[in-house]
Amino acid sequence: MFKDKLILLATISSVLAVQGCKKDKEVITVPVVTTSDTPTLPATPYSYLISYPNHIITELALTDNTPAGNPITNDGATLGRVLFYDKILSANNTISCGSCHKQNESFVDNRALSTGFEGANGKRHSMPLLNVRFYQSGKMFWDERAANLELQVLLPVQDHLEMGSTLTDIVAKVKARSYYPALFENAFGSKDIDTTRISRALAQYVRSIVTYQSKYDRIQQGSETYTTLEQTGANLFVTPPPPAAGAPAAPSCAGCHKPPMFITSNPARPFSLPDANDLGINNQRRFKSASLRNVALRTSLFHNGSVINLQDMFTRGAPGSGTTPIPAHSVKPEDVAALTAFLQTLNDNAILTDERFSNPFK
Ligand code: HEC
Ligand code: HEC
Repeated sequence: MFKDKLILLATISSVLAVQGCKKDKEVITVPVVTTSDTPTLPATPYSYLISYPNHIITELALTDNTPAGNPITNDGATLGRVLFYDKILSANNTISCGSCHKQNESFVDNRALSTGFEGANGKRHSMPLLNVRFYQSGKMFWDERAANLELQVLLPVQDHLEMGSTLTDIVAKVKARSYYPALFENAFGSKDIDTTRISRALAQYVRSIVTYQSKYDRIQQGSETYTTLEQTGANLFVTPPPPAAGAPAAPSCAGCHKPPMFITSNPARPFSLPDANDLGINNQRRFKSASLRNVALRTSLFHNGSVINLQDMFTRGAPGSGTTPIPAHSVKPEDVAALTAFLQTLNDNAILTDERFSNPFK
């Protein structure tokens, strides 16, 4: 395949060279080849059974949503990886899960509202697929409408806005690709291809996307320490704000975004970014938030992507800004730098290029 690319490159450069010297030469259009049709996979599957540091193992014991019937295996996650990046899962073969959950953007899409099948505008911002495994209730989407990940992964393919396909079509298309029978056999013991197996493999792959290589993780393991500014931010993160007169005690950032994976453990409290068009969980103006890990690397935050970045979030409602504060998220000006510095310690850059999670179609 590499050879094919070289040949293509050679063709493009000779065409350019010819056009360069003889201006009146007929212009030849070179088709742009973006991805290959077959995945390139390692001879021995990558290991998805990762030995996490102790603080992550402890958290997994408490919050892992992996069902007994679908543990992660190397072959299962490998199949899931191929499905995740395979454009045949969309009606017109143009987008894959990876189009809206981009590895180099922390498995989210930095645009505010995701664009789906035939360029349709989604109504919500994509969600970062980091540490999904640690959401104890297992309920997926901003409004928790999917009961668990195995069910969730089949929803985008059927949703016209996202991938515009049907499960019957998907199964037929997957069956028709020569590389799948062996991958299903390795993962599940036989070449049978059905929606249950597709959903299990996708769920295994998504569950294996865990960040554990940030500065924060090294600090938890005692091999690094916070700077003074980061330490101030870490303290602010776990300190509840002073209660307003007559109001019940408000939680700290950590009270909602629970360390070490920083996922809203249970979005039980009424909480809202003012949004007249979207009322979230049970129409109660509540939303789940995904893991805050890598949030400092992202642009477009919250369920509708309307918050540009951390700076924007923290400073909404500042005098003269003409904006409205976001409940629980707009902070005192003097706290912005420290909280931002702390959140930056959650950045795991390794996950952005880790080949185990990369697109095999190239
Ligand atoms: C067109 C863009 C798009 C495509 C394609 C797409 N997603 Fe998503 N994904 C989203 C959006 C938007 C949300 C949030 C939707 C909501 O809450 O209503 C989301 C949410 C999710 C979540 C929930 C995460 C959480 O923490 O609750 C998972 C898991 C997920 N997608 C996996 C997938 C998989 C697997 C595929 C491929 C089968 C896929 N997505 C294809 C845009 C997309
Ligand atoms: C009462 C619970 C609660 C508290 C307290 C809270 N948050 Fe949140 N946070 C949420 C929820 C729920 C969302 C998602 C809301 C939405 O999308 O509409 C969220 C969203 C976020 C986001 C955007 C995440 C994303 O993926 O787009 C960041 C960043 C964030 N919070 C950081 C903080 C920080 C820092 C603090 C402390 C100053 C804090 N939060 C306090 C519940 C809370």
